[in-house]
Amino acid sequence: MKNKTNLSLASSGARIHPRILIDRFGRTFNYLRIALNEMCNLRCIYCMPEEGIQFKSKNEMMTMEEIMRIITVVSELGVNKIRFTGGEPLLRKDLVELVEKTSLISGINSVNMTTNGVLLKQYAADLQGSGLSGINISIDTLNPEKYIQITRRDEVGRALEGLEAAKTAGILSIKINVVALRGFNDSEIVEFVELTKNYPLTVRFIELMPFDAHQIWKTGKFFSAENIQKELKNHFPDIKTTDGTATEHAIFQVPDYAGKVAVIPSYSRNLCGNCNRIRLTADGKIRNCLYAHNEFNLRDLMRSGGTKEEMKELILSAMWKKLFDGWTAQKSGSNSRESMTQIGG
Ligand code: GTP
Ligand code: 5AD
Ligand code: SF4
Repeated sequence: MKNKTNLSLASSGARIHPRILIDRFGRTFNYLRIALNEMCNLRCIYCMPEEGIQFKSKNEMMTMEEIMRIITVVSELGVNKIRFTGGEPLLRKDLVELVEKTSLISGINSVNMTTNGVLLKQYAADLQGSGLSGINISIDTLNPEKYIQITRRDEVGRALEGLEAAKTAGILSIKINVVALRGFNDSEIVEFVELTKNYPLTVRFIELMPFDAHQIWKTGKFFSAENIQKELKNHFPDIKTTDGTATEHAIFQVPDYAGKVAVIPSYSRNLCGNCNRIRLTADGKIRNCLYAHNEFNLRDLMRSGGTKEEMKELILSAMWKKLFDGWTAQKSGSNSRESMTQIGG
């Protein structure tokens, strides 16, 4: 028999939703992605212009106390997986402490981060010791010249050292995020897959998304998930499908290789039916979809004395309003954000 307390409808004004993190299409949400800042030490062409964006002031960013309060609240609503993103989370001085405190919260059993890896070498061991379960490192090319073209910074050496440091530290799950760009890194597919030969990491090819104000994505670089899969099968005809997470819509393993290879259809969006994600922007707003336009201001609610119950109500109501998929969400208005760095990917 279903739990009556949990499923009883809570209504306030026009809002009617159950007391569990579920939406009108039956999706449940156990995974919160938290953007810790908007700053970054790279300038990936599909993300930010060279001069950066209009970064918000420090007091608009959430404090460690506010972040911990939010994680505690969502853990009581059934969230068990946290990911710290940014901007670049390693630019935040309190990151290791945040990871440590988060991993001690009852109900949270997976603490992860997404980083460009440039500053990882010096923090990898501390992060592992603080309870970090997984790290996703964004490296779009292994070629130093091309890395400068895509990130506008000469840092591939340090990013690769960061990857090595994560392995040495023994971080359990290591993934490499590669935004697939036609005519740029499609020639490196084999080289990336070979990284999975001797180490159990996952290489993930991600579709380019139209989030940058300069619309780099209109320049013919888009490389669809379908075509990435075709290329993978051309180069590795024996590749087998295997299991992955909710974003890893297609996931494979080359026979006898230690790691996995995944394709994330972030633009095609045939992953929306399995979406289990809640997003918190660096300035403390809940976004119920990467492509959503509406945001729900949790930070201001907290700063004006909002109670735990009111915070829960805001989060439950925000997720209940999630639209059918990323296409519907995109069509529902115009984007209020200048760069992916503010949303947290
Ligand atoms: P895992 O927990 O390891 O599966 O990581 P993740 O894929 O959830 O997180 P990560 O930060 O590494 O994101 C990888 C890519 O997937 C980024 O480009 C994200 O923007 C994209 N992505 C993550 N969640 C969503 C989503 O809800 N919708 C879409 N369209 N893309 C997403
Ligand atoms: N399209 C696809 N992926 C993007 N990311 C940032 N901006 C975009 C975009 N426009 C990726 C980063 C990182 C992840 C969090 O999001 O490369 O791997
Ligand atoms: Fe920095 Fe990530 Fe944006 Fe690149 S995609 S500029 S690494 S925030």
